[in-house]
Amino acid sequence: MTVRHFLTLKDLTPAELNQIMMRGIELKQMQKAGEIFEPLKNQTLAMIFEKSSTRTRISFETGMTQFGGHSLFLSSRDTQLGRGEPIADSARVISSMVDGIMIRTFGHDIVETFAKHSSVPVINALTDDFHPCQLLADMQTYQEHRGSIQGKTVTWVGDGNNMCHSYINAAAQYDFKLRIACPEGYDPNMDLVNAHKDRVEIVRNTLDASENSDLIVTDVWASMGQEEEQKLREVAFADYQVNTSVMQKADTDALFMHCLPAHRGEEVTADVIDAKDTVVWDEAENRLHAQKALLEFLMSKV
Ligand code: CP
Ligand code: NVA
Repeated sequence: MTVRHFLTLKDLTPAELNQIMMRGIELKQMQKAGEIFEPLKNQTLAMIFEKSSTRTRISFETGMTQFGGHSLFLSSRDTQLGRGEPIADSARVISSMVDGIMIRTFGHDIVETFAKHSSVPVINALTDDFHPCQLLADMQTYQEHRGSIQGKTVTWVGDGNNMCHSYINAAAQYDFKLRIACPEGYDPNMDLVNAHKDRVEIVRNTLDASENSDLIVTDVWASMGQEEEQKLREVAFADYQVNTSVMQKADTDALFMHCLPAHRGEEVTADVIDAKDTVVWDEAENRLHAQKALLEFLMSKV
């Protein structure tokens, strides 16, 4: 049987993504009911982190524990990978001993090379180009609060970054329209935009992009690895903030999402992210449930 990887949302079919979303909702209910379910007993997930993380590490590690398995936190600071051992060699060796590998790194080519040489499933836990695991949680959160996202309009406000790219893939896989409000010079990869131009458009004005939208999403102005550009980006992104005016332009039932960590007063105002009916905490918690569904899909042998 060929090994399945999850490097972008395009590695799974829309039907498989829907199945994982529904299973995530079910696994959440099972866990809240105190049901013990251990489909990954005796299995190990290697978790390679070359960038910082709170949610991703905790959700994968806890997910493996709840599934009866084990996880290994491998920081590049402490492994030979961080000292220049070739990615292909590392992939061969690590995958010979574990049942799944999760990687958070810089270049997307690193996870591609890792997957090519791995004998077990490889999960992209964020690269400079994509963050597909976050989309599993976001789509589950929308489904839980508003039902199907199919045919809806989503507005991305801010940087054309890894999250934005995964939203472009999500527009195709979950069948919604995506408007991207980003300043010139910070566009997403235009090859990706053009490949999806039937459902994705760039709208420079944030308020125009948000009109009647069903979901408003944003992310930090400077991603991990871009810290030195922070000041420059604060100027460039000044008109790309999700605030009350933006939410008022959107549909009255519109949700606001943010993958977190958030910078209040920059990409989002405190009154929006901390609103009484905010779903961002559900969104963060759903990383656990959605990724458990992914782990079960990729790693369960029964
Ligand atoms: N949203 C997200 O991936 O958070 P962490 O960087 O804390 O893992
Ligand atoms: N775009 C952000 C997402 C963090 C979860 C980054 O790459 O730092």
